[in-house]
Amino acid sequence: MNEQVLIQTAQAMVAEGRGILAADESTGTIEKRFRSIGVENTEPNRRAYRDMLFTTPGFEQYTSGVILFEETLFQSALDGTPFPKLLADKGVIPGIKVDKGTKPLAGSPNELITEGLDGLRERLVKYKEAGARFAKWRAVITIGDGIPTDYCIHTNAHALARYAALCQEADIVPIVEPEVLMDADNTIEVCEAVTGRTLEAVFDELRRQRILLEGMVLKPNMVVSGKKCPVQADRRTVAEATLRTLKRYVPAAVPGIAFLSGGQSDEDATAHLDLMNKMGPLPWRLTFSYGRALQAAALKAWGGHNVEAGRKAHLHRARMNGLAAAGKWDPALEKAA
Ligand code: 13P
Repeated sequence: MNEQVLIQTAQAMVAEGRGILAADESTGTIEKRFRSIGVENTEPNRRAYRDMLFTTPGFEQYTSGVILFEETLFQSALDGTPFPKLLADKGVIPGIKVDKGTKPLAGSPNELITEGLDGLRERLVKYKEAGARFAKWRAVITIGDGIPTDYCIHTNAHALARYAALCQEADIVPIVEPEVLMDADNTIEVCEAVTGRTLEAVFDELRRQRILLEGMVLKPNMVVSGKKCPVQADRRTVAEATLRTLKRYVPAAVPGIAFLSGGQSDEDATAHLDLMNKMGPLPWRLTFSYGRALQAAALKAWGGHNVEAGRKAHLHRARMNGLAAAGKWDPALEKAA
């Protein structure tokens, strides 16, 4: 393990005013996205879509890294350049989703466990050769009647730490992503309590499994009201609850926190990040690692063929979130665009 390499990469991933584009949708997930715009889920279409995103002129100013799906890591852009090289040449760090998705948790089938540890050490060698310098593993915590159980939180935390240790051994920075879902009818208070329990268990395991905290990035959910909750917390409440929780459970040794968007509207995801950065100084850098909140508008504008419109929409959201990552966003900038 080369500590210097890990620390430098982790710091570059959360450099001021830049964040991470999560473009690592599995073939099943991109199918859902493509269906929403009536595009067939074929290998050439997936390649063309990602090409549009990664060739957006100027997006690198706001984008420190891109998380790729395995297929994309080994694909080439339409001009023949391998995608990881195309990104690296722009100063954007290529990363790779390494988990194999979720399955029902044995003994508690309404909860999920993330798979993908078997063979991971060998896969990481291949990914590194292909140019990946960081990785991502997503654990999913579901809120519901009697859940999450401690069993679910702890088995997922254990798997996250095992993944992170293997990454660091290979000089690959692990993005540690414990996502508390926002789909249920719970209040923001319940989300805060569950997010706290989850982060506590995750950092316990990371420490027990000897993770270099300076050489990782945390990717958590924000503390929000469940989507089906009749009372929706306002933006300031979300920002305050999220910061309070992070300050309680995330050690200052972690260089940066890159949030997932989790189903928030594009503008909420930007506004929340901006508000939190305006509430600094903070012990870690706060930025984005958005999938949907960076891509939804671009996907729609592209629609399978309109490359210029797709790039324009992508650049706009990248810029808005880059500003939010520095606490410099203003809602008027959305209207101006
Ligand atoms: P969303 O921002 O769409 O939640 O996706 C981020 C991600 O990488 C989920 O694993």
